[in-house]
Amino acid sequence: MSEPLVRVTVPASTANLGPGFDALGMALQLYSVVEMKRSEQTTIVLEGRELQGVPADKSNLIYQIAADLFRKAALPVPELFIRASSDAPLTRGLGSSAAAIVGALVAANHLAGEPFTRDQLFDMATEIEGHPDNVGASMFGGIVVAMAPEQKGATVPYIRLDPPKDLQALVVIPEFALATEKARNVLPQVYSKQDVIYNVGHSSLLVAALAQGRLDLLGVAMGDRLHQPYRAELVPGLREILDEAMQHGAVGAALSGAGPTILCFVSSDEGRKQVEGFVDKVMTGHGILYRTMVLQPDVHGVQVETQK
Ligand code: HSE
Repeated sequence: MSEPLVRVTVPASTANLGPGFDALGMALQLYSVVEMKRSEQTTIVLEGRELQGVPADKSNLIYQIAADLFRKAALPVPELFIRASSDAPLTRGLGSSAAAIVGALVAANHLAGEPFTRDQLFDMATEIEGHPDNVGASMFGGIVVAMAPEQKGATVPYIRLDPPKDLQALVVIPEFALATEKARNVLPQVYSKQDVIYNVGHSSLLVAALAQGRLDLLGVAMGDRLHQPYRAELVPGLREILDEAMQHGAVGAALSGAGPTILCFVSSDEGRKQVEGFVDKVMTGHGILYRTMVLQPDVHGVQVETQK
């Protein structure tokens, strides 16, 4: 009898939404798939151009996380067949590593007989990723507001919100990659009181505006002084887009996660077309190759199917 296969579909995500550094994430309708089953020998198949160059041996992140979950559940680590694909580009700020982590945990947990709850898997994902924003959105869908616990391994408190009606993301994806580590290393160790107060106010207003569907407040509430000003030197065009996108049809704009993708929120086709024209002028002016995608928020989070 052949082993049952679990197929897990995970949304990509955009983190921070401007001021909510390491705390806010939104799931997007752009998916990665992880398939997993017990096997006589471990085989890892990576499909599609986005996963080219990712290791396909036991050093693979998905395999490592799956093996670790079995160990945590005090179960023998099985040999695994793993097949993975991703429509989300890697190292662009759309949460592809978070999606892989969530996919690996949820698939392995299913094969192991569900020893852990979804919330426990979220805690584990946060510990692996180092912050809860992308993994929370990929796990639960919608908008996730979460904070990393001070103690390693403690429960991650979070609230999930439904995205406001009519909100769409126009993501501007430059051709170049930017490692999260590099984009975190440019941030200062210490911030001024004014900058901290600025971000607390903006992030708080942003969460309240998202909860009440107040798209009119996003443009102002998405201001940030903790990471975007420093990361702008790594992302040509970011400064202009953050400063001017709202005058060209966007309802809000931010760096997506650690970048280099830039997120413009739009609420109508007309607004989207206007932003596309503006973005093209800015990016072409900087000589940056890029592509755009229009993505709806995902509201389901990770989805699991089993095939006998
Ligand atoms: N909050 C994270 C950052 C997201 O901005 O560095 C990227 O992993």
